[in-house]
Formats: sequence, structure tokens, C-alpha cells
Amino acid sequence: MNSSAPSRRRAVADLMTTPAVTALPDETMADVAVRMETKRVSCVVVVEDARPVGIVTERDIVRFAASGADASTALVADWMTPKPDTVEPGSETGAAFASLAERGYRHIPVVDDGQLVGVVSMRDLMRVAQIQPMLHPGEVEAPKGLAGVIVADTVVGDVRGQEGFYHYRQYSARELADKRTLEDVWALLFDGALPDASGRAAFSADSRSLRTLPDAVRPLLPDIVGAGETFLPLEALRSAVSVTSAALGFRPSLDISAGELRADAVRLCALIPTLVSALHRLRQGEEPVEPDPGLAHAANYLWMLTGRRPEPEHARAVEQYLISTVDHGFNVSTFTARVITSTGADVGAAVVGAIGALSGPLHGGAPSRALDMLEAIGEPARAEEWIRAEVARGGRIMGFGHRVYKTEDPRSILLRELAQRLGGDKAEFAATVERTIVEVLADLKPGRELYANVEFYAGVVMERCGIPPEMFTPTFAVSRVIGWCANILEQAADNRIIRPSARYVGPPAPQPVPQV
Ligand code: ACO
Repeated sequence: MNSSAPSRRRAVADLMTTPAVTALPDETMADVAVRMETKRVSCVVVVEDARPVGIVTERDIVRFAASGADASTALVADWMTPKPDTVEPGSETGAAFASLAERGYRHIPVVDDGQLVGVVSMRDLMRVAQIQPMLHPGEVEAPKGLAGVIVADTVVGDVRGQEGFYHYRQYSARELADKRTLEDVWALLFDGALPDASGRAAFSADSRSLRTLPDAVRPLLPDIVGAGETFLPLEALRSAVSVTSAALGFRPSLDISAGELRADAVRLCALIPTLVSALHRLRQGEEPVEPDPGLAHAANYLWMLTGRRPEPEHARAVEQYLISTVDHGFNVSTFTARVITSTGADVGAAVVGAIGALSGPLHGGAPSRALDMLEAIGEPARAEEWIRAEVARGGRIMGFGHRVYKTEDPRSILLRELAQRLGGDKAEFAATVERTIVEVLADLKPGRELYANVEFYAGVVMERCGIPPEMFTPTFAVSRVIGWCANILEQAADNRIIRPSARYVGPPAPQPVPQV
């Protein structure tokens, strides 16, 4: 019965630290640092007439220290994070937790009728999340969207949103994209170590030998392509992966050894580019192009997609794009793949589910939409007006914002560099428009930290390399399947079925069942 739920809720006022430690804008950074040290707090709220006008956190102190400025003369007003988001004392703790987690803050000032009354920290809220009364023994309540909730241990990789950094195993993904091949990164994710020269040759030879479509699948592809009025490449890929899994006799992960599961996963990752490009070409009324074992994974994908030998710089740019999108923490499709694997299902089932998740506009999104936006803006002088109008009508600027990154997305930095390396008017134009968008969003949505994400330049890079817009998201699947499979292998190796609970909020049960 949901009427009992509100009584279990706790308010921010129950948890906040009051009074908050404060500072004035015209005090020096040295004053503030000493106060934080002596009061043993990790943030100070900056006030004017008891109203919060800023916040100085440990992060600001680190930023300040790195600048080399003189703490005895630098003013708080110049170094604080201005206009902090605030929360009311009556707010429910779960909502405050979700807001802190989503925005990436560790502290929020608590304000009543404009006046500062305290400060609440992530640690306060976490403490309560663990001691809140339970609906059923052992249950804990997670914030909506599971934001900030850790649901597994992993050694595959991680995303550090505050720093704008992500890594595969223990290596920076960006550095891997600069220095290694896609096959090296694939081996790293599957086996836990970067291959040496002979390991690289063996892994390449193995994966190249597995690219050819199974005979039983080939004749089914035209029917998959022709099944609907509209061709949705990821929908077609989902069906093709299902029939491929059946044709190859993939067995439940529960029933096979880690070695057999790895072999199935390598096979599927090797086949996805072949399936994606064959489906695309059939839809264009063209024959699929056979894989070329003389080409590396990325170059072979471009070859099968376009039927042309790729320029080496295009092949390398696409390879770097693919490396940079192989994995990205517990994103939705990766989580989906792990949930399905937790049931003991086969690798094909998990990948089909992950493709379904990726197809959603909020996830795999549509880099093509970012490209459409550039077309619609037309010229740099129109950018500001266009963005303001779009946000005013409640629209989202495609290719901007991210749940985890509250600073520049490192993938967008890499892709911007790639776009500029490849050249062309669009790369130049996109860079100009990006600057305008960041400025306008900072003005219209202060404190939200909205920067370009992976999608903004992805379309520019892919288009320049000859990949048509409808194939942007399927190309994302070509790389991400490797990350999904690395997670599938990890889940299967140390499995417990993932089965959370929901709070029932419908009419009280049992009600008498009406007679007809
Ligand atoms: N344009 C305008 N405003 C934005 C944008 C944007 N692109 N992104 C976030 N905001 C605003 C929201 O309106 C909101 O403002 P409010 O506080 O006034 O309500 C605030 O910033 C926070 O936004 P949320 O929706 O809470 O952020 P969330 O973390 O849930 O969403 C997401 C992240 C879905 C990526 C979002 O930024 C977005 O819709 N971006 C555009 C679509 C896009 O580029 N998707 C690809 C993401 S990358 C990937 O999945 C591979």
C-alpha cells in the first residue's frame, strides 16, 4: 500500500549539517583553506546577506593550487563555483541523492526561503540510504535510473566523469586509440593483456578467419532486409544475430566452459561487421562484398560496406573511432548484456538484447541527428540564434550533454582531432559551432556542464570516411559488441542472476476478483 510510503521518507533537514561553514566573497583563498582545515570540512558555502552565491570545494582548492596563484591575495569570489544548485530542507533524501549523483556534486547548500540553513553531502545521503527502514528484509532503495548505484565489480574498464577520463583495463582508452590497433584492444578486453607481436599476429589471424557468413545465414539475409516497409539497420542486425547464433549452435553460457564461451564471443564479434555491411548492401540492391583476410578489422569493414579499397587515413580514422567506442562503463546496452548473461543464456541472446538497447535514441542516439543539426544551422553566424530557439522550444542539442561526463567528453576531443586531421569544410564548421553551442548552453543552462559528447563529431568523421548516415549507429555496434562480449565473459565467469525488486504502488492487494 503506497499510503505507508511517505512516512518512511526522510527529509534533507534531518541529515544536513547546520550551520554550514561559510565564507565571504572578499575573503582570501588562504582564509578559506585554513577554515576548511580547522573545521574539518570539504566545502565552504560563500554567502552574501546569508544567501549562497557560490561554493568552494576541495576540487576548487586543487584547481587553485594547480594555478600557482598567491593564496594570500586571491579572492574567494574569483575561485568559487558560482550560483550553486541548492536544495530545500523539506526535500526528500532520495531526490536529493539522485540530484547529487546525476550532477556529479558532492555537496549541496540547503536553502530555506533564500537563506542558507545548512549543507548536505553525498556521504550524509548514502548513510541514510543504508539505514532507511526496509519494505522487505534485505531490500535497499535505488534512485530512479539507478544513477550512481554500483551493481557489480569489474576489471574491464571504467569512466571517470569528473576528470573526463575513461580506461580499458588499466590503460587510457585515448592512449590505446593513439598507439594500438583495434585487434590489440579487442585482445586486451577479452584476455586482460595487450598482445606482443606474436600474440597480435595470432589474434589477427584467428579473427580474420572467422569473418565469413555461415552458409545457413547467407540466404536468409534478403528476407530480413525486406521484412518491413522501413529498413532499420539495427533491427535487421538483431534478427541477423539471432539466426547466426542458431546457425552456429551457440549454447547457454551456463552449460559451456569459459573457453567455449570466449570462442563464441570472438566468432560473433568477427561476424558483426560482415552482417552489418551485407544487410546494408542488400538494402541498396547490391551484392554483399566478401571479407578480405588481407585487411585489418576496420579497413575490412569499410571495404565490405563501400566495395572500395579504403584510403589508409580513412581506415585508420575509423579504426580510432572504433577503438574509442569499444567500451564505456556500465552503459545501458552493456548492463543489458550482463543481465541477460546472468540468466545463463547464450552470447547471441545477450548481444541481441544489447543491440535492442543501443537502438534507443537516448543511448545509441543518432550521430546522424548531430549532422542534421549542422545542416540545419547552415552557417556559423546562425548558430547562436538556432540553438537559443531550439532550447526555448524544449529541444535537446544533439551531441551535447552526458550522464557521466561533467567536463569535456574525451571521445569528443579525439574525434574533433580526427575530424580536423581528415579536413574538409564540415570539420571546420563543426568546431566553430561547437564553441558557440557550449557558450550558449552555459548561458541558458548554467551549472549543468554541457559539452560535446561522442556523437557530435562521430558523424563528421564517419561521413568523411564514406560511411552513410544511416550506418553511423550500426558502426557503433561494430565496436561496442567487443565491449559487450568482454562484459558477458566477465559476468559468466562469476555469475549471480541479476534480479532486483520493484516497489508495488498500485491498489492495495488482494482485492476480490470481480465475476463476469
Ligand atoms: N541540450 C540542451 N539541454 C540539455 C542537453 C542538451 N543536449 N543535455 C542536458 N540538458 C539539460 C537538461 O534540459 C536539463 O536541464 P534542467 O536542469 O533545466 O532540466 C539538464 O541539462 C540535465 O539534463 P538531464 O536530462 O537530467 O541529463 P541526463 O544525464 O539524464 O541525460 C543525455 C544525458 C541523455 C545524454 C542528455 O544530455 C541528452 O539528451 N543529450 C542529447 C542527446 C545525445 O547527444 N545523446 C547521445 C549521448 S552519448 C551516448 O549515449 C553514446
